[in-house]
Amino acid sequence: MTDKRLTTSWGAPVGDNQNSLTAGSRGPTLIQDVHLLEKLAHFNRERVPERVVHAKGAGAHGYFEVTNDVSKYTKAAFLSEVGKKTDMFIRFSTVAGELGSADTVRDPRGFAVKFYTEEGNYDLVGNNTPVFFIRDAIKFPDFIHTQKRHPQTHLKNPDAVWDFWSLSPESLHQVTILMSDRGIPATLRNMHGFGSHTFKWVNEKGEGYWVKYHFKTQQGVKNMDPAVAAKIAGEHPDYHTEDLFNAIENGDFPEWKLYVQIMPLEDANTYRFDPFDVTKVWSQKDYPLIEVGRMVLNRNPENYFAEVEQATFSPGTLVPGIDVSPDKMLQGRLFAYHDAHRYRVGANHQALPINRARNEVNNYQRDGQMRFDNNGGSGVYYEPNSLNGPKEDPSSKIAPFEVSGEADSVGYDENDHYTQPGDLYRLMTEDEKTRLVQNFVDAMKPVTRKEILEREVGHIYKADKEWGQRVADGLGISIPTVTAN
Ligand code: HEM
Repeated sequence: MTDKRLTTSWGAPVGDNQNSLTAGSRGPTLIQDVHLLEKLAHFNRERVPERVVHAKGAGAHGYFEVTNDVSKYTKAAFLSEVGKKTDMFIRFSTVAGELGSADTVRDPRGFAVKFYTEEGNYDLVGNNTPVFFIRDAIKFPDFIHTQKRHPQTHLKNPDAVWDFWSLSPESLHQVTILMSDRGIPATLRNMHGFGSHTFKWVNEKGEGYWVKYHFKTQQGVKNMDPAVAAKIAGEHPDYHTEDLFNAIENGDFPEWKLYVQIMPLEDANTYRFDPFDVTKVWSQKDYPLIEVGRMVLNRNPENYFAEVEQATFSPGTLVPGIDVSPDKMLQGRLFAYHDAHRYRVGANHQALPINRARNEVNNYQRDGQMRFDNNGGSGVYYEPNSLNGPKEDPSSKIAPFEVSGEADSVGYDENDHYTQPGDLYRLMTEDEKTRLVQNFVDAMKPVTRKEILEREVGHIYKADKEWGQRVADGLGISIPTVTAN
């Protein structure tokens, strides 16, 4: 028997929560039942807009522990010494589907980590793939339109998907990873995570390094057979969500090791391709993995909406010692995320418990919808001031960097979209190649326009002739003559 009294949202005791106030036992309901009005009205407002991408997700709390000294590369306080532990929160997601869509679909998986460091939050908003489909933010809304529903039929549209990809050959590397066995992870615990973009680390002396992040699953990479995945998608669409929750609930805490690749700043001018191009990976022979630490997930959210749905991650949520690169996708993302958060959650989203920094937040921002903390109280609310308000710290300024060139809308210097996907194909075992070809064929078969199929097969053929031929054979089409010659 609970000793808690049911109250209205304004804290008054509720007299009856089962029977509305009516005029007589069969009479109409009275508008005077303010508890009923409030209950119905609040219910109508229970949903916030779902994320425009990555809508379906699962989250968990945990910690990050430094296991190797990387302080010569970055002054980030949470990475300053071996053994240091920092609380973190992660959200895994699929990309294209809606909030209620199935977990076991062929799709990249989001891998968004929030570190609650002593110098503010640091978000690493990556995927389970080291590359992306496109390399300029200006193409993102069009790309995502092709992954969503057709405006008339409200159905997924394979013609749009493959039309866009075949006209954007920079996508081939990521499409290959997506069509490989890794396109459907067995669980969220059995996949790697990547920052994907190139970021910049800066040390105490102000020296910079380009950096790429790799989270390696300690559960081993395991993938799901597409036929099994299709069956599970129908029977248990929340399969991955449940698996993660149960593993943590049972004390089987999933763990990832974090490694980085470090590139000296000057190498970016001479490396054999643009190291800021997110459709490419850096060779690990050139830039080997350096261990940083381990991430352990050991606590489930207490409340899904409060902690997972309201979580807001942004690649622009950075701390001193970690900065961005000129990657044109990353640059666009610096705008997109907090803009989405202000629309989806509200202007004060960063003050919500799941998003709030664990250190003190002091600034001159005030007011806005749902301002639920003390709003700075009676403290000074402008700067400059002579009232001893919070002051900037010049040691936290970003390291200066040079820019040059004429302002123009220009593409990347180099357009080799084929070497890296071709190498990936050639690295696969015979069985993996066969499954890759089959996955391409199965995904492309529903396309109705032959020219789209031919254009995509032409790209695959350029990456590897045998691979292109096998996909063409599977689709019953020929290699377009312009490519074959
Ligand atoms: C979520 C935009 C590229 C990973 C989102 C959201 C937007 C967005 C608007 C929803 C945010 C929210 O409502 O909370 C963009 C744009 C991109 C881009 C404009 C390109 C210019 C990428 C790339 C990656 C990525 C390259 C991975 C390397 C994610 C993840 C989430 C997400 C993991 C879900 C975060 C969460 O769990 O809350 N993106 N995105 N996105 N994006 Fe991107």
